[in-house]
Amino acid sequence: MESHPLVKNNGLAPLHVRATRTRISALGWDAIAVPNHPYHFPLRLGPENPTVKVLLDETQLQAGVVRMASEVSAHYGNDPLTIVGVLTGSVVLLADLIRQLEMPLRVGVLQASSYRGATTRGAITINSDLLLDVKDRDVLLVDDIFDTGHTLAEVIPLLKKMGAKSVKAAVLLRKQGRQEVEIEPEFIGFDIPDEFVVGYGLDYQDQYRNLRYLASLEPTDLIDDTIGEDA
Ligand code: IMP
Ligand code: MG
Repeated sequence: MESHPLVKNNGLAPLHVRATRTRISALGWDAIAVPNHPYHFPLRLGPENPTVKVLLDETQLQAGVVRMASEVSAHYGNDPLTIVGVLTGSVVLLADLIRQLEMPLRVGVLQASSYRGATTRGAITINSDLLLDVKDRDVLLVDDIFDTGHTLAEVIPLLKKMGAKSVKAAVLLRKQGRQEVEIEPEFIGFDIPDEFVVGYGLDYQDQYRNLRYLASLEPTDLIDDTIGEDA
């Protein structure tokens, strides 16, 4: 058993990531551990066959979601709650998180998009056409990752302008050292190193959202400014 000391559990005890041979058997591929780099294996999905490093496995992700849900439950009690997922990256977290909550719950979505590369970002466009009514509601925004923070910094005031009684945010991941805004999400699953991550809803060029684990891509496998329009 090896550990990845950089992955921290929301300021609590560091999470130890097991270095296992990951078998993507559901997809029909084997993930092969590279000698001396137990966290690295070639991900045989894209044409470039990128190498990924598993940061959080399925069990650890589930434990983080359960913990975050218990913090949300402790905060809101049995008060009715309106959850708003930020498409598309939040879909996996949204599905897992809402099933851990027992208060009266409404679920809506909006889409936040920005043209972004691995290290660059453009203006954010918000599409709230599909959003349910948030007026006088306690709203919990759910997003996959808090990176620069600009997405939440734009969406939170918008929901307040729409009349939400309160708006708080829950994110699965917060990337260390990237924040460019004042606001902080109230509920955070994991603090992760500043690496580009995929899986559990997060994508690179619209791929890899379906991975059951969270993995980081090697910088050499990232072609800057080609990550696309989905935020
Ligand atoms: P922010 O506005 O910079 O906080 O970025 C938020 C959005 O950027 C997230 O909802 C993701 O969709 C995307 N993003 C940021 N970092 C990553 C990453 O490492 N992998 C995949 N998507 C990311
Ligand atoms: Mg997103």
